[in-house]
Amino acid sequence: MAVLEARNLTKRFGGMAAVDGMSLSVAQGEVLGLIGPNGAGKTTMFDLLAGSVRATSGSIHLAGQDVTQAPAHRRLAGGMGRTFQIPRPFPGLSLLDNVLLARQSQTGERFWANFTAPGRVAAEERAARDKAMALLELVALARLADQPAQVLSGGQRKLLELARVMMADPKVILLDEPAAGVNPALLEVLIDRIRQINAGGVTFVLIEHNIDMVSRLCGRIVVMAQGKLLYEGRPDQVAKEPRVIEAYLGGVA
Ligand SMILES: Nc1ncnc2c1ncn2[C@@H]1O[C@H](COP(=O)(O)OP(=O)(O)OP(=O)(O)O)[C@@H](O)[C@H]1O
Ligand SMILES: [Mg+2]
Repeated sequence: MAVLEARNLTKRFGGMAAVDGMSLSVAQGEVLGLIGPNGAGKTTMFDLLAGSVRATSGSIHLAGQDVTQAPAHRRLAGGMGRTFQIPRPFPGLSLLDNVLLARQSQTGERFWANFTAPGRVAAEERAARDKAMALLELVALARLADQPAQVLSGGQRKLLELARVMMADPKVILLDEPAAGVNPALLEVLIDRIRQINAGGVTFVLIEHNIDMVSRLCGRIVVMAQGKLLYEGRPDQVAKEPRVIEAYLGGVA
């Protein structure tokens, strides 16, 4: 069953179609790779799926619901999490607070709840902190929980992104180049964690230029070029497909 489905999505910026009639079906429980040369439209595709950019035409279904017109926060509440190609944590806030801020609805945010149900608010706070700490543990950042996010390396910021997105209990996570800037040792942690979270039932779509990582994690890869679907297949098929090789060489030349 498809947990996420895009049909004939197009996004125009002025005269240029960054995404041009893309269709994509993501099965429940899979780790789908999304690759393609720079400027192919991969990040724009994520922006469309997550709702930060509205499609010019086409439709998006999340868990069977049409979310084409739904704002980003509604899609997040519906189970769609995403990380950003360039993470922007709050630099002066601790890692723990950065993760806590990614939570969904909180009773404490409803002003009157502090007066009418202070015990419940306090219990929720404790539970949220425990969950945030467990997520920092998961991405090997727990020992830095009290440090401001500005101390993190680029690679550690990618791991913090993963902890942040997990805070909202997503069904589907869109990962935009999670391995960029991540050193080889941390990369193994990251691959391991994605597998672990996926084994817990979470579906992933993975944009990545690190083909080794994509091949290890993904059973199926979708290749985009110039906003369109170029090819779809298993990692071994993608690696030897002339059209894919051509698209990447064209990007280099
Ligand atoms: N907000 C925007 N306004 C105008 N053009 C944009 C906008 N966002 C993206 N584009 C253009 O759309 C095209 C696709 O960009 P996108 O960022 O989706 O590519 P990508 O596949 O993620 O590339 P990369 O691998 O370099 O991250 C590019 O030509 C880009 O310049
Ligand atoms: Mg991109």
